[in-house]
Amino acid sequence: MHLSDLTLSKAYIDGQWIQADSGKTAIVVNPASGEQVATVPDMGQAEAERAVIAADVAFKSWKKTTAKHRATLMKKWFDLMVQHADQLATLLTTEQGKPYKEAFGEVMYGASFIEWFAEEAKRAYGDQIPSASPSTRFLTLKQPVGVVTAITPWNFPVAMITRKAGPALAAGCTVVIKPGEDTPLCALAMAKLAEMAGIPAGVINVITTSKPAEVGEVLCTHPLVRKVSFTGSTPVGKHILRQAADTVKKVSMELGGNAPFIVFDDADIDKAVQGAMISKYRNAGQTCVCTNRLYVHNDVYDQFIEKYVAAVKALKVAPGLEEGSEIGPLINQKAIDKVQSLITVAVDQGAKLIEGGQQSAQGDLFFQPTILTEVTDKMDIAHQELFGPVTTVFRFESEDDVIERANDTPYGLAAYFYSQNLSRVWRVSEALEYGIVGINEGIISTEVAPFGGVKESGCGREGSKYGIEDYMEIKYLCMGIDV
Ligand code: SIN
Repeated sequence: MHLSDLTLSKAYIDGQWIQADSGKTAIVVNPASGEQVATVPDMGQAEAERAVIAADVAFKSWKKTTAKHRATLMKKWFDLMVQHADQLATLLTTEQGKPYKEAFGEVMYGASFIEWFAEEAKRAYGDQIPSASPSTRFLTLKQPVGVVTAITPWNFPVAMITRKAGPALAAGCTVVIKPGEDTPLCALAMAKLAEMAGIPAGVINVITTSKPAEVGEVLCTHPLVRKVSFTGSTPVGKHILRQAADTVKKVSMELGGNAPFIVFDDADIDKAVQGAMISKYRNAGQTCVCTNRLYVHNDVYDQFIEKYVAAVKALKVAPGLEEGSEIGPLINQKAIDKVQSLITVAVDQGAKLIEGGQQSAQGDLFFQPTILTEVTDKMDIAHQELFGPVTTVFRFESEDDVIERANDTPYGLAAYFYSQNLSRVWRVSEALEYGIVGINEGIISTEVAPFGGVKESGCGREGSKYGIEDYMEIKYLCMGIDV
């Protein structure tokens, strides 16, 4: 199948490829060039409601299929994603901007959730509980929650969908996906591959829109929806939680972060530089788990900074489809404005700009990899999710001090530290108030481990053996028997 066959301009509801009721369309733009890539239907509440109803009808039969049957179809979907990885990655880079190499990595990472949960479908065991009396027997069943809505962001247009659709389908749920407004094309392409894999009509639905709040209201309040899974900002997550509360839906929330990355004086400095680079500049800094505050111990500060600056200077800023690109464009003008304003305020408040700090000559949405040093916890930038290619460097003196400062945030998604002292590794791992801790590692994401945060970074875990649990209800059976 060619790239053009996977670049779809219709949404997918109840097994039908359709336009918006109004006939209106929304434009998808390549952030690297500003050129129009495609149009998609600009749907509203009526189509969202139809998608939910279609998912509910499909749920009635999908939930009765065996886990093995669901796993077989999901395996086919996984195989098709892998077969079309090049086309998907090209589409991903075209609508989102990240370098092709990263986009290809995301497609394989995204596909891995479908494979993993196809396997987990067959292992969603209930229990037999030792009885409390001779004449009763206790069992638990695990059953699918029902219709799930998946509201996904633009920064990972493939993986954030599969991380939700994978466990949902494996558990026997059906889904309505609303992809990010900037990046609907990968979602449609994946729905096409799911259709080709034989996943029945209504089990996966994709609704595209330029009015996320309007459509989101239906997806988060409709009584037939039993679970909302959202990845995005903390303010939007809080709004969705309020909307979902009225009908007491299950929720999974993967929200914002303010990740500390701590370089202790006993760290392997070369490895720490490498880890910080990948954690900070992956996807041009546009991930929830990107390093947001880089804490470097005073004794290794100069050594670390010298190597880190050299590595940042060597980054190639270029359109994602250009050979060797390492930093693509940011997603839109709003993102550029935000980064620029964070830097201006930080410098006004006393931070030192030692690298970058401006838009790149590559084009309107490209931003130079930037380093600010002498940043302090009092500055505004220390409390904002940067979501751009900007490193903020803080100094520290002691372990206790840096732990306290690292935890001094409402967020709690990912944290990282580099140390070769085993006792310190245990102490710091236990003390950090985060859902994920990278120890001498800058990349923590994998389908086999639980991804998720604490505090205002959200609730629920995605991936791993835990990821399917949020899509199932536990039913307790109490059986009276004659003995
Ligand atoms: C995210 O930024 O939300 C996801 C990052 C990842 O899966 O690594």
